[in-house]
Amino acid sequence: MKIIGIVGSPRKIKGNTGRLVLEVLKGAEAEGATCETVALPGGTIKPCKGCDVCHKKGVCPQKDDFEDLKARIIASDGVVLASPNYISSVSAQLKAFMDRCCGVVHCLGFEGRYGASVVTSGGGDEEPIAEYMNQFLLTTGITPVGSVWANMGTLPNNAFTPEIVAAAQALGRKLVHDWHNHITSPEIEERKTRFKDRMRQLMLYCRQEWPFEYQYWEKTRGM
Ligand SMILES: Cc1cc2nc3c(=O)[nH]c(=O)nc-3n(C[C@H](O)[C@H](O)[C@H](O)COP(=O)(O)O)c2cc1C
Repeated sequence: MKIIGIVGSPRKIKGNTGRLVLEVLKGAEAEGATCETVALPGGTIKPCKGCDVCHKKGVCPQKDDFEDLKARIIASDGVVLASPNYISSVSAQLKAFMDRCCGVVHCLGFEGRYGASVVTSGGGDEEPIAEYMNQFLLTTGITPVGSVWANMGTLPNNAFTPEIVAAAQALGRKLVHDWHNHITSPEIEERKTRFKDRMRQLMLYCRQEWPFEYQYWEKTRGM
């Protein structure tokens, strides 16, 4: 299994979020996965311009790292999405990437892959952010298997407790195990089906306006 860890922090892999991602990947590697990490420090993936070209042509006209990262995700089997808590949400750096995935979301273009989310904070509120990130994964077609987080304000010297390390590594192992055995849950499948139905309706409605996306659906799923 190939996994890509995406760290949406300007402090890159050495920051708190990056360090927690590495623990998740350590667990995944122990189960035989091959892992890589990509940091989004800001500027490497610019904000979406809302031009709709991705919907019409399947690629973003902005010249930055987005299309390369998209291709690396498509070449992977698993995604670990990570962000610091920035004002009770994901970082702007990660949000820029998520927004640029709008065309991927319409096509559920990462379908078949498995994923997990990682959040660190200075003082709390990680869970709704992790849930939001897992919902994003789901809307790209990825099956989310869970999340892990750490409130750095409770950790002397910013050192993760053995419990947090164990939870992170267990999440990495679960990611590999669930992907390998095609494990999912009725709740996740129900949410995926509902979202897919929504996107199918959108494609039917916008088929003239967004030819790439309509043809992608026709080719991969039939309409
Ligand atoms: C711009 C900014 C906004 C932040 N907002 C919050 C917040 O709303 N709540 C919180 O608990 N921590 C907040 N923090 C703290 C970070 O979430 C925390 O330090 C995190 O572990 C940083 O991760 P990193 O080292 O990977 O960048 C904020 C930090 C920054 C720089």
